[in-house]
Amino acid sequence: MIIRNVTMDDLNHFVELYVDAYRGYEEYAERTVKDIKRYFRWLYKRDKNGFFVGEIREPVGFAACDTNWISPFEGRRIAELHELFVKTEFKGKGIASKLLERAIQYGRSKGLSTMGLWVGEKNEPAKRFYKKHGFVERGRWGVWIRMVRKI
Ligand SMILES: CC(C)(COP(=O)(O)OP(=O)(O)OC[C@H]1O[C@@H](n2cnc3c(N)ncnc32)[C@H](O)[C@@H]1OP(=O)(O)O)[C@@H](O)C(=O)NCCC(=O)NCCS
Repeated sequence: MIIRNVTMDDLNHFVELYVDAYRGYEEYAERTVKDIKRYFRWLYKRDKNGFFVGEIREPVGFAACDTNWISPFEGRRIAELHELFVKTEFKGKGIASKLLERAIQYGRSKGLSTMGLWVGEKNEPAKRFYKKHGFVERGRWGVWIRMVRKI
């Protein structure tokens, strides 16, 4: 797999993979194509250098790490992992692990020492994935669980 920075040309692949990856977890995801496109543009604007796509001939997963994020939860600038998802047929092959590793490297390269994220309370595969990668639960906000780790 190669990992490269996202460009605006990846918009349609992002929408297609997002809908596919979040099937079964819709309550934690944007619902309409319009909202997913708006979200893509927001991620790109927040920190395009931290916005990655993994490709095996074609896109198989995305990760978005925002190093400009002043976290209200931590009260300081951290590397916020806004997004991470993998196309269903490619799950369980270590693709998210590689995308996460790239996002962590990027956060470190910006001098940050903490990564944080919000995960849906019933999103067991994602919670297990993050725990395995050293994230710990630090709080809650509605249906969302706050997880953080040192990077
Ligand atoms: C959470 C998510 C990103 C994980 O993606 P993934 O590519 O399947 O993750 P990985 O393959 O790196 O790791 C997942 C599992 O596969 C296993 N695995 C890793 N490499 C493997 C390999 N080469 N062969 C087989 N299994 C492997 C891991 O041990 C891990 O096991 P676990 O079930 O104990 O966690 C994915 O399930 C997803 O897209 N979910 C929907 C979107 C979402 O919820 N995103 C998070 C929002 S906060």
